[in-house]
Amino acid sequence: MSEALADKTEQTKKTTPPSPPKGTNIIAVASGKGGVGKTWFSITLSHALANSGKKVLLFDGDLGLANVDVQLGLMPKRDLNDVIRGRLGLRKVIQPFADGGFDIIAGRSGQASLSALPAQRLTMLRDQLIEVAHEYDVVILDLGAGVDRIVRMLSASAIRTLLVTTDEPTSLTDAYAFIKLGSAAGTSKNVGVVVNQASNSSEGQKTYKTLLKACENFLRLTPPLIGMVRHDPRVKDSIRHQSPILMRSPNAEASEDVEKIAKFVIKDLAKKSAQTKASAAS
Ligand SMILES: Nc1ncnc2c1ncn2[C@@H]1O[C@H](COP(=O)(O)OP(=O)(O)O)[C@@H](O)[C@H]1O
Ligand SMILES: [Mg+2]
Repeated sequence: MSEALADKTEQTKKTTPPSPPKGTNIIAVASGKGGVGKTWFSITLSHALANSGKKVLLFDGDLGLANVDVQLGLMPKRDLNDVIRGRLGLRKVIQPFADGGFDIIAGRSGQASLSALPAQRLTMLRDQLIEVAHEYDVVILDLGAGVDRIVRMLSASAIRTLLVTTDEPTSLTDAYAFIKLGSAAGTSKNVGVVVNQASNSSEGQKTYKTLLKACENFLRLTPPLIGMVRHDPRVKDSIRHQSPILMRSPNAEASEDVEKIAKFVIKDLAKKSAQTKASAAS
């Protein structure tokens, strides 16, 4: 991937506060391009973590195209919009997803006005999220695609950002753009890569290496590979049936792959959080 092809981020570059507050158990799931499988992956990762005994909250942070509730067939009575409008505190819109054994904060689709949200409201939301996170072992943030200020702020509140990409050139270049923007703001050191919809393990490795090479050559960054998920028709099947794949097809390849990632994430989180505490103490 060439720098010319990869680099289309200059005009959107903005600065983030030098050291934004973070939740030491918050993991963001991001992507440059939409439609790569972020929401499905966020749900399945939350489910896998819950199955291994963790207390998990899944936050639908895709404020424009929220669809965690849609993929799970839920009809939330309250959602993030109530919080953003100042009607309810964040804690009040948490709802349990009993089938998965984890909690959810639903977003709301089609709220274009949310992108024009005053910065103060956004900061308030971030602060409430960090507060609520204390009551959980892990909080997963399903973010919108791209690098708008909502994505940047929520991703900056996470201790680890899992950047989801597929092998499509546009997905890779957009993933690179995401890392490049974060490197300017100092948040890319927390990015790890998840290759989704890989045809097999060696193709997934190849996809990761392509992104890694661009990051090493142009940004002097080496984002680690967190894991890969194979392309699997049972993903679509479970979404169509609005039923989580770990219930509907627990033995699917994609299910096994996410379970493996969940194990890795638990270790990674412990390591990252120990590092953060050590550097805060020094
Ligand atoms: N591992 C996979 N195998 C097959 N299809 C997948 C996989 N991951 C995602 N998909 C497909 O990608 C579509 C988009 O997923 P979604 O989670 O809505 O993406 P995003 O949140 O990134 O926009 C899904 O409807 C599903 O059909
Ligand atoms: Mg989504």
